[in-house]
Amino acid sequence: MTERSSGLEVADAALLLDDLRVRCGHDFREYAAATLHRRIAARIEAEHLRTVSELRARVRRDGDSLQRLVEALTVRVTAMFRDPSFHASFRANVVPLLADRRFFRVWHAGCASGEEAYSMAILLHEEGLLHRCRIYATDLSHAALARARAGIYPLPPMRDHTESYRRAGGARSFSEYYTARYEHAIMRPFLRDRIVFATHNLATDAAFQEIDVLLCRNVLIYFTRPLQDRVHDLFLTSLSPGGILALGRTESLRFTAREDRYQPLDARERIYRRVGEK
Ligand SMILES: C[S@@+](CC[C@H](N)C(=O)[O-])C[C@H]1O[C@@H](n2cnc3c(N)ncnc32)[C@H](O)[C@@H]1O
Repeated sequence: MTERSSGLEVADAALLLDDLRVRCGHDFREYAAATLHRRIAARIEAEHLRTVSELRARVRRDGDSLQRLVEALTVRVTAMFRDPSFHASFRANVVPLLADRRFFRVWHAGCASGEEAYSMAILLHEEGLLHRCRIYATDLSHAALARARAGIYPLPPMRDHTESYRRAGGARSFSEYYTARYEHAIMRPFLRDRIVFATHNLATDAAFQEIDVLLCRNVLIYFTRPLQDRVHDLFLTSLSPGGILALGRTESLRFTAREDRYQPLDARERIYRRVGEK
């Protein structure tokens, strides 16, 4: 009997993922199957097709359809000062460790459309540290990175994020950080200038070097355990001794093979400090 999930054939879905890996280098084979299958099924419907085989044929001959599929396979929900308690903890527990640094590097792995990186730039600006850091913000999604680089967001949600900004410890007016034009908020250039947005695939690309603060929130939950373990190796290689790993509440280092290489700074918000030498 053919194995089915979310109404689609699992073997065909595996072939589709092989196609994607060969055609565009995106390796989704170690992503959590249930989410992936739901998203493939939604793509089949959106393309007015009936089966995975038809979708395979479509993406083979239509580059736009291929791109739409790649974009659809990842979850890109994000927000300014998402999880305010995380940012409040970052201010309280991490900022003091950075205060005497002449220069430090921050890496947002899986930054989606950039709100997380802009939030960090605002926080570091308010703590008087922005001019001493470089923020790298990476994602595998070209569409998300294009939005991040532009730094232009719909205005109504920005107004909602004002409350998150305050709960994250922001004491100014959030609207200082963007220019409102028509229905959009354009992030102030002094924030964007400290951020380098770049494509990086955690499943296949190499480690960064000498990262002092690494944030990877709401990303690893979509990966299978073996892929999570490999990404934790990549993080360990990327982090400087004493570097900070911030995972946010949805993930944990507990029971990973790398747990003993960190000590918690805030166990609840899953903010850790790397211990020992390289
Ligand atoms: C739910 S968003 C999280 C965004 C942000 N970190 C936050 O917490 O608001 C997950 C992001 O991870 C990205 N992503 C998924 N797989 C990835 C991979 N293998 N390499 C890099 N980014 C990936 C997705 O494209 C998406 O933008």
